[in-house]
Amino acid sequence: MLAAARAHSIAPSSTKDGERMAETTIYVCTTCRAADDTSEIRAGARLLAALENSLIDRPQSVRLEGVECLSVCKRPCTVAFASPGKWTYVYGDFTAETAPETILAGAELYSAADDGLIPWKMRPDALKKGVIARLPPSLTSPSLPEKTS
Ligand code: FES
Repeated sequence: MLAAARAHSIAPSSTKDGERMAETTIYVCTTCRAADDTSEIRAGARLLAALENSLIDRPQSVRLEGVECLSVCKRPCTVAFASPGKWTYVYGDFTAETAPETILAGAELYSAADDGLIPWKMRPDALKKGVIARLPPSLTSPSLPEKTS
């Protein structure tokens, strides 16, 4: 049975001044199932496990969290990158077995970008082809503007 959400954190990085940088979370859909996949463990859950393994002994400031469905079920496996004050990106079309390094490389670029916007030329091809949506920072920022009406 799958856990509804698992989090796996790696120590957050710091700026030169010792200030903590906002942590990047990689949300991984654990219920994604590849079309021809008959495995008992869904591809999304296998992707999360592969990412967890890839992060062991790796000095990267990302947090993994398994979620049940990102509403992009036709493009498995799906993940999202999010961090307070940054654009949130949703990507799809990843395979559980081959995608972890690409996803982690993308998350590293995302973490390094102040606003979360990874320059197009720097993006791995899988992130260029697999981008599904981006959501503005105001949706994830703790300081949402107050309504006036
Ligand atoms: S099952 Fe993965 S996005 Fe819906």
